[in-house]
Amino acid sequence: MKKMLPVEELARDERFRRVNIFDAASDPRTVRNRDESKGRTGPQKLTPDRADAPDGARQLMHGIFMGEVQALEGAGRTCWDFETGPGREQAPFDLKLDMARQCWDETRHVEISVKLGEWMGTEVGEFAEATFLYEAACNPDPVLRLTGVNRALEGLAIDIFNTMRDFGKVSGDPMLEFCEDWMLADEVTHVKMGSDWLRRLTDKDPERRANALEFQRVVDKLFSLGGFRGEEEDSPIRLARRFRELAGFKDEEIDEIAELSVESRNDAIAMQQDAAAQVEAKVAAAAAES
Ligand SMILES: [Fe+2]
Ligand SMILES: [Fe+2]
Repeated sequence: MKKMLPVEELARDERFRRVNIFDAASDPRTVRNRDESKGRTGPQKLTPDRADAPDGARQLMHGIFMGEVQALEGAGRTCWDFETGPGREQAPFDLKLDMARQCWDETRHVEISVKLGEWMGTEVGEFAEATFLYEAACNPDPVLRLTGVNRALEGLAIDIFNTMRDFGKVSGDPMLEFCEDWMLADEVTHVKMGSDWLRRLTDKDPERRANALEFQRVVDKLFSLGGFRGEEEDSPIRLARRFRELAGFKDEEIDEIAELSVESRNDAIAMQQDAAAQVEAKVAAAAAES
């Protein structure tokens, strides 16, 4: 079996379609809609009284399902891609054991997500797949995989599960509430694995630790795309401070994620304005030609 499987070669059947999240986040139509006050202008938090709440919840849950599939693929690859050993290009046996346990958990999460999706009225493949989680799991250094996937992206999963569990509670859906609660408990363990292995493997290698934390910051910022994660009461995804503490995050690390989210929101607005300006320039050029 091939080592280091490229994202293009992931096994998917005809139900799945891929989307580039940067294309979606920099949609130039967003700028005009905002200028003309079209679409949602109030709080973005998903609440049961919103007309688009069922579709929003289904879309978010399908995104979680795709993340579970890729988390399984990523953890499995980390068991296989590296020789077993203490070297920098190797993975210790105990780390592989943790990744094998994670595969078991993620497999269960995939099954839970499929059944929960059916319960919510969603078919597999109804929404597009973004492959960023698996791409972060292709890093050639196992420590960077653990910071990029387990600490950054599964940290994001903690925030999302916690938010969705609260949504299940207030909307009176115990199925949603309990499914999210079960998966949340496992994700705290996965994020803690990332925190523990980061400390263990970089204990005597400050340069490797700095690289790993920098990769985590890059991933955290990219996937706060649009700044949808925050600490405000009406944030679409709320930063789950308590669960992050349990998963080995220090206070200042949680503060940094909140700041990255604000930066990310500003970056997304700049990207949208840039894309809108390019569209306008093309339209003007076409008008001048005709
Ligand atoms: Fe999971
Ligand atoms: Fe996980």
